[in-house]
Amino acid sequence: MDNPGMTRITVLGSTNMDLVAYVTTAPRSGETVTGHEFRTIPGGKGANQAVAAARAGAEVAMIGAVGTDEFGDRLRATLEHSGVDIDLLRTTEGPSGTAHIVVDRDGANAIVVIPGANGSVTSLSHADRAMIAEARSLLIQLELPMSAVLEGAEAARRNGVRTILTPAPARPLPPELLAVTDLLVPNEHEAATLTGISGDPERAAAALLAHVPEVVITLGARGCLYASRAQPEPVAVLAPPVTAVDTTGAGDTFVGALAVALAEGRPMMDALAWASSAAALSVQRPGAATSMPYRAEIDA
Ligand code: ADP
Ligand code: NA
Repeated sequence: MDNPGMTRITVLGSTNMDLVAYVTTAPRSGETVTGHEFRTIPGGKGANQAVAAARAGAEVAMIGAVGTDEFGDRLRATLEHSGVDIDLLRTTEGPSGTAHIVVDRDGANAIVVIPGANGSVTSLSHADRAMIAEARSLLIQLELPMSAVLEGAEAARRNGVRTILTPAPARPLPPELLAVTDLLVPNEHEAATLTGISGDPERAAAALLAHVPEVVITLGARGCLYASRAQPEPVAVLAPPVTAVDTTGAGDTFVGALAVALAEGRPMMDALAWASSAAALSVQRPGAATSMPYRAEIDA
């Protein structure tokens, strides 16, 4: 199974089934509206980043949990079909994680996430820690219990593995987690939540360098901003101009591809340009995981 020529990445994160209702106008409390379409789409930030990194060309292992309900098998199968190693994906008695999403005519989302099985991942096993220790990078987000996220990042730090944290859903972060994070990748909204600075990503990036050595703030169609303690003046990387049809999962595609490029030893600016190409490809196609590009497409 081991392929010494490939870069290994471990993802410690969530799997969710997205239950998506498409409506003209989202209902308010107490109101019922008739929608026009319903879809179930495998997702979760952890699973999406795992699929993105696998398609971008890494050997990826996923640590997390699915439930024993009707969604568990499909969540597993989606990861497996993308070539993600799911030996360490637990099955927990009870429901899988779900995200209940209402998308209106303007493409705006209202979302309820119920953690389900994800909530059962409160600590790591010896095998989980070993899988993290063997990787080049560990990808984490905030959809699993903080105790497990922290344990994973600490295991990565002890073993010299680069930890890349997507601070989503946006919330204040414990200092212990920031202390073991190498690269923080918030979107503009998450950066504002973390710093209290909105509308000024340059200043937010500078503020975040007080907590982590490197930051990338993603700015949607405007690209991203990179800053590091070694080079504190933020550098902008523009997004390729494309026609977006569905930006769901753009951030996860970006992070997955960025992790692969960095793990392969590419310089940060090259890695950011490559990740921007991957994310730009994904927004031109519907869906999240289904829209993520393969390595050859990104290279082209
Ligand atoms: P998230 O999905 O986490 O909210 P962003 O919306 O900031 O994250 O998008 C992440 C990255 O995806 C951006 O930095 C950019 O490279 C790319 N991207 C997002 N939207 C577009 C777009 N409309 N056109 C081109 N690239 C995009
Ligand atoms: Na997409």
